[in-house]
Amino acid sequence: MDSIGRPLRHFLTLLDLSPDEAGALLQRATELKRLVRSGERFEPLKNRTLGMIFEKSSTRTRVSFEVGMTQLGGHALFLSPQDTQLGRGEPVEDSARVLSRMVDAVMIRTFEQRTLERFAECSLVPVINGLTDRFHPCQLLADVLTYQEHRGSIRGRTVAWIGDGNNMCHSYVNAARLFDFELRIACPEGFRPDPANLAGAGDRCTLMQSATQAVENADLVVTDVWTSMGKEQEQKQRRQAFARFKVDEALLGNAAPDALFMHCLPAHRGEEVSAAVIDGPQSVVWDEAENRLHAQKALLEFLLAA
Ligand code: CP
Ligand code: NVA
Repeated sequence: MDSIGRPLRHFLTLLDLSPDEAGALLQRATELKRLVRSGERFEPLKNRTLGMIFEKSSTRTRVSFEVGMTQLGGHALFLSPQDTQLGRGEPVEDSARVLSRMVDAVMIRTFEQRTLERFAECSLVPVINGLTDRFHPCQLLADVLTYQEHRGSIRGRTVAWIGDGNNMCHSYVNAARLFDFELRIACPEGFRPDPANLAGAGDRCTLMQSATQAVENADLVVTDVWTSMGKEQEQKQRRQAFARFKVDEALLGNAAPDALFMHCLPAHRGEEVSAAVIDGPQSVVWDEAENRLHAQKALLEFLLAA
């Protein structure tokens, strides 16, 4: 139970939401975006605090959660392992017990999904996944919101994932289940998503042999860095392995004429995406980045507001 007697909810993967809840949450994000843009104040989280634990770097996640809490009338607390006892070996479970007696929710960016789960198991307040090696669910809320804003419902659309079968790819697989779209995945051998994750999505997700095949007539083309945080020692090997998985104008030309391009950022122009694509007319990456703020405000309200 949470502090006001409701069942405690966490957001560790997208599948912690039902399809109806996810749809309503994105609808609410649109309303909150309109409210803030009209200059209206909406502060349901007055005197509430979000603890944010970052074991990896971040620009968008940190700023969007911090600004989101400010806009909702609350406060966000940045906690890095270097400056807390977490970095000196205090168990995750003990940290969860202590922090959750003081803050109202905790966002964690860490390596293993299991660390996040261990924290959540001992937490008295909602825990949010701000990225693990396995999933990045907050980004998917923003991506689907962005697609909706530009093209309407993503239901029944075709999405092409090009590149690494990483945390973002796994969350796209979950999103295909939750929002009911077709996902085609093209990754080099050895970098494909976990079959167990894929299996859950049934026939909505298909592994393709080539990037060209995956992109054919797609409504949305998505990629991500070839070397995620924590994999830096594999960078050279990855550059070679991913050479045929770059999103450039020629590849995007195979998608539907009104296809959109997304990338969670940070991007490496000339590696996973060409400058012509990411800075071109089909790219919606800046809206996508901004929508982290609006989608997460709706998430915070959903998890916290009385
Ligand atoms: N997309 C994303 O999560 O960006 P940051 O790593 O900057 O938070
Ligand atoms: N896959 C990337 C996403 C960064 C937001 C990483 O984990 O580094």
